[in-house]
Amino acid sequence: MKVVTDIQPLRDQIKAWRMQGLSIAFVPTMGNLHDGHLALVKAAHQHADKVVVSIFINPMQFGLSEDIDNYPKTHEQDKAKLVNENTDLLFLPSSEVIYPKGYTETTFVEVPHISNLYCGKSRPGHFRGVATVVCKLFNLVQPDVACFGSKDYQQLQIIQTMVDDLSMPVKIVPVEIIREKSGLAMSSRNGYLTPEERQIAPQLYKNLQWLAEQIKTNKEYSALCQQTAERINQAGLTTDYISICHAYTLAEATPEDKKVVILASAFCGKARLIDNIPVDL
Ligand code: PAF
Repeated sequence: MKVVTDIQPLRDQIKAWRMQGLSIAFVPTMGNLHDGHLALVKAAHQHADKVVVSIFINPMQFGLSEDIDNYPKTHEQDKAKLVNENTDLLFLPSSEVIYPKGYTETTFVEVPHISNLYCGKSRPGHFRGVATVVCKLFNLVQPDVACFGSKDYQQLQIIQTMVDDLSMPVKIVPVEIIREKSGLAMSSRNGYLTPEERQIAPQLYKNLQWLAEQIKTNKEYSALCQQTAERINQAGLTTDYISICHAYTLAEATPEDKKVVILASAFCGKARLIDNIPVDL
């Protein structure tokens, strides 16, 4: 696996592959890799000749109250995992490489409306940071395909909207959520859970499954969401939001919508868990 930290060697390698007629799949990450990320790398291999992964803890997507300095950095373990998955190139830039003028002084990309819903409400500016860095990384790597986890459903829709709105020549491939045996969606944030919290964290998914069953026969969406939030809270979590949305626009679903997604977030101790279940009605 080639490891590059700067833009020019990255561009040189991409150009060399292009001249050989090879296609490129890209997996952007913030590191601290778990099986969910490795599933993205595996999916990337299905779609192109060469696989590029980036690890960049993007300061622009962290809020002022969020502690970027404590975000786990596990570069050596991450590299070993990526070598094991036959990754062709790891792009590991510093903040200065990505934001030479500083991240508060740079041009940004903002996808309107859907960036301000759900997780965007609790994390103002977060999705601007995500869209900006993903746009920048796409410009650097120029992939044919980019793989994103479906766990971050809102992020996925925001990136797909950015790609559509700005006519970016990248195919976005959503990859299914990888869950622990308990049903808990894999996430770097699970590392913040104490053994006791790990026991109750799976209640988020369990209750979303309950809700997914209910909406097949009951269209009182608002009351059902309220009831689900109460169930989640009774289990020892603190619901941040729970919503039944149109699967593409993420607008609140109407009883006529056929493709919906249940989006939810809940605090388990310090960790803010997110999860979702798409439902075809
Ligand atoms: O999902 C993530 O890990 C990040 O939001 C991403 C897409 C790598 C952008 O920093």
